[in-house]
Amino acid sequence: MPYLTIYYGNPSSMHSFGGQVAKAVQKAREQVAALLGAEHSEIIFTSCGTEGDNAAICAALTAQPDKHHIITTEVEHSAVLNFCKHLEKQGYSVTYLGVDSQGRLDLDEVQAALTGNTALVTMMYANNETGVIFPVEEVGKLAKEYGALFHVDAVQAVGKVLMDMSKSSIDLLTLSGHKLHAPKGVGALYARKGINFPAFMIGGHQERGRRGGTENVPGIIALGKACELAQSHLENLSHERQLRDYLETSLLTLISDTVVNGTTEERLANTTNIAFKYVEGEGILSSLNQYGICASAGSACTSGSMEPSHVLKAMGLPNSVLQGSIRFSLSRYTTQEEINRVIEIVPDIISHLRSITPRIEDETTSSPTKEQEKANLIQQILEEEVKPFLAQDGGDIDLYDIEGDLVKVVLKGACDACPSSTATLKLAIEARLKDRVDPELTVIAV
Ligand SMILES: Cc1ncc(COP(=O)(O)O)c(C=O)c1O
Repeated sequence: MPYLTIYYGNPSSMHSFGGQVAKAVQKAREQVAALLGAEHSEIIFTSCGTEGDNAAICAALTAQPDKHHIITTEVEHSAVLNFCKHLEKQGYSVTYLGVDSQGRLDLDEVQAALTGNTALVTMMYANNETGVIFPVEEVGKLAKEYGALFHVDAVQAVGKVLMDMSKSSIDLLTLSGHKLHAPKGVGALYARKGINFPAFMIGGHQERGRRGGTENVPGIIALGKACELAQSHLENLSHERQLRDYLETSLLTLISDTVVNGTTEERLANTTNIAFKYVEGEGILSSLNQYGICASAGSACTSGSMEPSHVLKAMGLPNSVLQGSIRFSLSRYTTQEEINRVIEIVPDIISHLRSITPRIEDETTSSPTKEQEKANLIQQILEEEVKPFLAQDGGDIDLYDIEGDLVKVVLKGACDACPSSTATLKLAIEARLKDRVDPELTVIAV
């Protein structure tokens, strides 16, 4: 706070008012470096993880203008994935490596993808949705053999995994403040000494000419402190691990058709991604939210859309798992009471949702059959047109079931008060469905 209210000088200024702020920024740089086992001159402050990822990738490509190949994975955060797609349009060729059903990378595939034209291998340290950790040191060694630079998006891993850049094969590494209890809007990039790092943000001489622009001083000071605190906690992550394992085991024991997504071997201590089969993740999240429990489906940036997570899709998981997966993230501040509350509430939510929603079937990761397409369209019309239509008179659909050409609808609210109105509503629903889907459909409404 004093860096917002009292010490608001510009660290680039020559006067002492700015000079004392420059000293504080330097201390923060040392704190970040200490957490990574790096030298302070190897740390560049950024505005967020996305900037760090973009800047690292750009620097690696600009420094090697004769090479036009990038290797990454299908399960990256959009900060890397979308930037790579953008680079493809600029003429770069990108190899997107897949993962197995446990979210693991195959080192042989990394080796097979590397060529003398590979400028950069860029991949995450730990996955933001499953917590699965990639064998980054081994990948870095392979990249070196082919003369490629190696960038690691460690946004999820910094502060949760012991790192020592002085002994590492990583050339460039990104972190983001808000993933380790610093504020949003600040991040840092590690760039190994000796690496040619052309600036991504071109302007003033801040950050040794590697990132122009006046620094976010309060954010940087907070990031430094957050790194210091994370370092003191790093030796002992058993708190998160024990709570996470207890949560996971309890939910898997109490609720049928429930599985953990991703390997449980090489995984962050604070993350669990659980599939409650045959329900929609969005439904679980909104029910949890009513109890003040915050969880995520997919990454935070893609939640809100009904698209299943690209990470779980890349793992080749069945549709029921894709739809019903949610992620719980814990921290050193999570308490046993909070976990107990989740374990108390989730089984009821799942059993309620399973009782009211049509069962999500498993085969639809491949292209849907005509039958499935028809069922999807019926479901869409019921959800998007019939329900709002019924709601005008205070009615609703309690549940529905689609079996081939037969659609059974259980009405509730104002609709169940009077049998003649049920018959009229049945005709209205039937007309809508017959018109749009198939004249052969039969609707039963009760
Ligand atoms: C693995 C990973 N990389 C990059 C980012 C982007 O970081 P930021 O939101 O700070 O831009 C995130 C954010 O969640 C992430 O999880």
